[in-house]
Parts: sequence; structure tokens; C-alpha cells
Amino acid sequence: MKREKGTMGWLALLYVLILLGAVLTLEFKRLTIKPWPPAHFDDVTDHFKYGSIGAEVDGYPYLIWRELPEIFKDQLPGGYADFGFLQEEGQELPIGVSVRRYGVQRVGFNCATCHTDQVMVAGEPRLIMGAPANGLDLQAYIRFLVAASRDPRLTPDAVFESAEKNGRPFSWFNKLAFRYVVFNRLEEEVGGLVASLAWMDKRPDHGPGRTDAGNFWRARWGLAPEQDGLVGAVDFPSVWNQGIREDGWFHWDGNNASLTERNISAALAGGASEWLFEHSSVERVADWLRDLPPPPFPGEIDQGLAARGEQIYRKAGCGVCHDTGAVKLGQVTHQDLLATDTARADLFSPKMVEYFSNVGRGYSYQFSNYRATEGYVNAPLDGIWARGPYLHNGSVPNLADLLKKPSNRSARFYRGCAEFDLDRVGPDCQTGFLFDVTLPGNNNGGHVYGTDLPSDEKRALLEYLKGL
Ligand code: HEC
Ligand code: HEC
Repeated sequence: MKREKGTMGWLALLYVLILLGAVLTLEFKRLTIKPWPPAHFDDVTDHFKYGSIGAEVDGYPYLIWRELPEIFKDQLPGGYADFGFLQEEGQELPIGVSVRRYGVQRVGFNCATCHTDQVMVAGEPRLIMGAPANGLDLQAYIRFLVAASRDPRLTPDAVFESAEKNGRPFSWFNKLAFRYVVFNRLEEEVGGLVASLAWMDKRPDHGPGRTDAGNFWRARWGLAPEQDGLVGAVDFPSVWNQGIREDGWFHWDGNNASLTERNISAALAGGASEWLFEHSSVERVADWLRDLPPPPFPGEIDQGLAARGEQIYRKAGCGVCHDTGAVKLGQVTHQDLLATDTARADLFSPKMVEYFSNVGRGYSYQFSNYRATEGYVNAPLDGIWARGPYLHNGSVPNLADLLKKPSNRSARFYRGCAEFDLDRVGPDCQTGFLFDVTLPGNNNGGHVYGTDLPSDEKRALLEYLKGL
């Protein structure tokens, strides 16, 4: 008799659990049908830093994400700042990370992730909106997320315990949802991510301040980048003052002249989905970037020397390609003439153009303006002091080095710090990620303009470049 009662009890419990599982799954599905409104901020600078561009759909579940630094303290003693994410005081999230509920709350990138930097000036950190995120090692961050998700230390209980310890305990409902639904989904999601990132291990590490958007796209389109060695790693560019760039070609290789497509492709590359990217949010940020001024040089400029430098700049013909109003501004200089590393331009082949013209199929914005080029764009030099390391692949550590003959430029240097060299003009890293110019895609040759000048003229030219 007693035994029967026990079995009945277990069966009842089992039914309850099955029912609960079904309810949870349904609730999760219901919530994933329509994402909740995106994070919005009245102040446009805050919106740039913390707002949503719609990139959270495939993002990491936030309530797990925020406990990872605690659970993997041995790897991340400084939290996400260890990957170069910038944390402002009083803010829960780092700059460039937004949270939105899609099923569960998820984290996503926004435009500030890759386009905001911090520079140390006289021992004080200075935040520069629109600057290339030199300290951010996106690849290391993604690799960490994958490894952490597959680490046996990451269990529902470890997450609940960490949350409790951090004074933000899970509700009973969330505990059930995470234990029985979200964690199972995570396994699937990460499995998909691993397959789509296999190409990364076959190429040199990107290091901080760089990414390989080309190969992310290729993986997305099923072009099996893991089966070849094409490299598209580039430096994050600056994005201020977009207004003076509007008449030219965008992206390092000048592959698109449409402002709209550039903005949408930026959001999609940042992780937004074609069906859900926040049009108005992206447009708002893009409008603001149009007139965002470049940052002033943080040190003294010798105006007399700079005036002499300007004459040398003219004499050397720099303005022919780089000046606002110059006919060649925003046009592509062919690689035969330029002779910088060709990998990025080579990767963006006519085949890529074909695939890009399918992006947005069925939506009003379907792409039609991409092209393949054989070189890189003549960009304005506004705020150039804050855009190093230099060239599209970030292979030259500072402006002084760029004015040297390629064989005399640094063959190996550290990247990823906030310290700054006011004399040579560029980041000044004593440790960090060791950049090696002999690796595929990292060549530091070419752009020999000004390299023949006598050293006093180079000094003057450098002084002039500081103030642009
Ligand atoms: C994951 C990092 C990342 C995110 C997020 C990101 N970008 Fe970018 N952005 C890049 C990289 C890398 C390039 C250079 C691509 C190339 O030319 O190969 C770029 C290029 C650009 C350019 C062209 C600059 C030029 O001079 O040609 C603009 C403008 C831009 N991004 C704006 C945005 C906006 C607006 C957003 C948000 C909607 C955004 N980006 C989100 C990495 C990012
Ligand atoms: C024929 C056109 C042309 C001339 C002339 C020219 N440049 Fe450039 N410049 C380019 C191109 C194209 C790039 C991008 C190359 C790359 O990224 O591979 C570039 C890149 C640069 C960069 C790095 C930009 C960045 O964001 O990393 C600086 C700085 C620069 N040029 C300064 C100069 C100076 C100073 C002179 C004159 C001594 C000069 N350039 C002459 C076409 C030119």
C-alpha cells in the first residue's frame, strides 16, 4: 500500500514537472515572437553609448552574462574591462553594450562598441566618442564567451549563487526558466556560434582594435571561410565628421557610396538581424555622427612649426588625396600605386558584391550599391592623431613611423593600451597584444608619401598633422 502511494506521488510530481516545462517553453516562445522595445535614451550621446541598434536577438542571455566575470574570476579579474570594454562610473553596462528582452534579456553591441576609445592624457583617462576602439579585443571576448559556455563550471546553480552573492538574486520563475529552458538553448546557440567561427583559428589573431568583418559575412553566407586563408582584418575607423565624407566612397576599400547602405550594413555587422534592426535608432546615431567634431589634440602644438609643416604637406602633395574639397578625396587609390597590404581589398571580390546584393532581399532597403575595388580610399585626415595605429590594417604604430620608409617601420609592436605618445603621435604600449607585420594581412609596407623628406621637414609635417 505504502509503496503504491509513493509511486503515485512520484507520478504526480512528474506530471507537474512536465506541465511546468511545457508552460515555461510556451512562455519563452511567446516572448521570443516579439522583442520588447529597444533601449532608448533622450540624450543622443547616451543613446550612442548605451542605446539599442537591434543587435540583441542572437545575443548572450544577460542574466548569465553578468555573472560570468564572477564565475571565471581567474580569467577575468577585472571583469569585461579586461577585453577593453569601457566602463563609466555609475553605469551598470559597459559602453557599447545594450540589453533588450527577446525571450529573455540579451546583450548586444551598438555603434559605440567599436567606435569609442579612451586615451590617457597626463595620467587622466579621456573618453573619445567616434574614435576607433583601440583597446577592445572583440575576438578574445567572443572566444571567452564560447569557452565559458562550454566550461563545466558554468551551471545554473553557479549562476544563481553568483547572482545571490552579487545582491541580485534570481526570482523562482527565472530560476526555473534558466535551469530548464535557457541553459538548454544556450548549448545550441553556442554550438552554432562555434561552427560559424571556425575560420578564426586559421588566421592570425586580430588583436585589440581590429576585426574581420569580411569573414564574418562570408561565414554568414555559408561561403566556408574555414576552407581558405583570405584575410579581411581591419582597424576600426573613426566615425566622426561623416558629413565631409558624404560625397565619397565608404569603408577602407571604398566599396560603397550609399550612406543608407553603409548605416544598415554597420548595424547588421554589429549583430542586428535583417528583419529587426532599429532603423530610427541607427539613423539617429548616423545623423549625430555627421557633425560630431574630431577631438582636439591633447598636447601642446608648436604653431610656428605647424605652419611650416603645412607648407611641406602641400609640397609633398598630401592634400591632393586627403583635403576636404580635393577631387580625389573619397576616391580609391589603386594598390599598384599605394602598395599597402592587399588582403582586405582582395577579399572583397566581385563574388562578395553578388552576395551583398542579396542582403535585405524582400525589404525596402535591399542593397544595390556595393562594388569591388583594387585599393583603398583617400580619407580626410581629421582627428588623425586619435586614429592610430595607422593604415587600414593598423600595421603602423604611430605617425612618425608612417613617415619612415617601410623597411624602417616597426616590425613588431604592442597594441591595445590607452597610453599615448604625444611626440610620435600614436598609442604607446609597453605590453599587450604583440602585432607582427610579417603575418598574412598585417604587412606595413606602402604609402611612402613623405618618407623621403629630410628629418626637420618630417618634424614640421608631424606637428601640422597633430592639429588636423
Ligand atoms: C563590431 C564592430 C563595429 C560595430 C558594432 C559598428 N562598426 Fe562601424 N565599422 C567597423 C569596422 C571594422 C569598419 C571598417 C570596415 C571596413 O572598411 O572594412 C566600420 C566602418 C564604419 C563606417 C565607415 C567609416 C569610413 O570612413 O569609411 C561608419 C560610418 C561606421 N562604421 C558607422 C557605424 C555605425 C553608425 C554603427 C552602428 C549602427 C557601427 N558603425 C557599428 C566596426 C563596427
Ligand atoms: C595618392 C593619394 C595619397 C597621397 C598623395 C597621400 N596619401 Fe595618405 N593615404 C592615402 C590612402 C589611400 C590611404 C589609406 C591606405 C591604407 O589604409 O592602406 C592613406 C592613409 C594615410 C594615413 C593613415 C590614415 C589612417 O586612418 O590610418 C595618413 C596619416 C596619411 N595617409 C597621411 C598622408 C600624408 C602626410 C601624405 C603626404 C606626405 C599623404 N598621406 C599622401 C592616399 C594618399
